[in-house]
Amino acid sequence: MSKIKPAKGAPYARILGVGGYRPTRVVPNEVILEKIDSSDEWIRSRSGIQTRHWANDEETVAAMSVEASGKAIADAGITAEQIGAVVVSTVSHFKQTPAVATEIADKLGTNKAAAFDISAGCAGFGYGLTLAKGMIVEGSAEYVLVIGVERLSDLTDLEDRATAFLFGDGAGAVVVGPSDEPAIGPTVWGSEGDKSETIKQTVPWTDYRTGEVERFPAITQEGQAVFRWAVFEMAKVAQQALDAAGIDATDLDVFIPHQANERIIDSMVKTLKLPESVTVARDVRTTGNTSAASIPLAMERLLATGEAKSGDTALVIGFGAGLVYAATVVTLP
Ligand SMILES: CC(C)(COP(=O)(O)OP(=O)(O)OC[C@H]1O[C@@H](n2cnc3c(N)ncnc32)[C@H](O)[C@@H]1OP(=O)(O)O)[C@@H](O)C(=O)NCCC(=O)NCCS
Repeated sequence: MSKIKPAKGAPYARILGVGGYRPTRVVPNEVILEKIDSSDEWIRSRSGIQTRHWANDEETVAAMSVEASGKAIADAGITAEQIGAVVVSTVSHFKQTPAVATEIADKLGTNKAAAFDISAGCAGFGYGLTLAKGMIVEGSAEYVLVIGVERLSDLTDLEDRATAFLFGDGAGAVVVGPSDEPAIGPTVWGSEGDKSETIKQTVPWTDYRTGEVERFPAITQEGQAVFRWAVFEMAKVAQQALDAAGIDATDLDVFIPHQANERIIDSMVKTLKLPESVTVARDVRTTGNTSAASIPLAMERLLATGEAKSGDTALVIGFGAGLVYAATVVTLP
């Protein structure tokens, strides 16, 4: 017989507030065309992207995260001292150790909150949200800050025609806290490591250090293979998340897929047979692909513009390098 007392968490968890930060520099397709043979028309029609934001030297991963988090904390109506854990999802923080989450937790003024980074590519927000929900229901934190943040401009090869136009920088954050009713559905998540070569860093950092390669490492991908996987496999995962939450497409108010390519978004909308009444996030047009930051940034924008409202039921799905994915249904803050 165990002597350990059962944990005392909240019955359920929900997203209580959201905040975003987009770097001040807006980069139109014309700037991308300086280094690759392409056209504004091609980029818009193949990806939907018109502009993206690139961070300056002051807009570090930590600085952008603190900005986005401050807004999320205010939106949730709590104080930083109440946060019990800070989870930062990123693949573009260039210091291996310590985790950037500890710096962010300190700068925000949390009371020694637990803090750690996770690496789950473009599914990073869903992975963080799932951890947060678990912590709240299990009782190890009352409020958890989940941040998705990237400076992908640092990892972009501007001479690579397949990726130069895709990526952007920014931070999105949510505060997750206790709830009396279910407001974050079961997560459908997983990994397909047999496809890890389809999106990856060109070479390990050590190859660059030793001079084995001259070019700074960058993210590279097999565009068509990733596109097909996203369109066919991720629509199935999205449907599984709806099924797991016990709702169908007609119950949805909002769809916030990872902002990778507007054609992938269109295809998922069609496969899932989403009614016209469902608001679909298309933040990719002006934000590009910001990996872990893309879903919270898109969520924040839909709420800020009034296209979505507090209490709406939203399907969120992230997918990318790994390959990894995570989908769930949430009530919007
Ligand atoms: C990257 C992506 C937009 C490219 O679109 P695509 O339609 O697959 O393009 P392809 O690579 O098949 O190339 C089609 C044609 O456009 C050309 N092309 C490729 N890149 C180009 C560019 N930047 N500008 C102009 N033409 C380009 C190719 O040379 C090819 O020409 P061809 O038909 O004469 O041979 C698309 O594959 C994609 O979005 N993939 C998924 C990306 C993604 O979501 N990644 C992250 C997941 S987290």
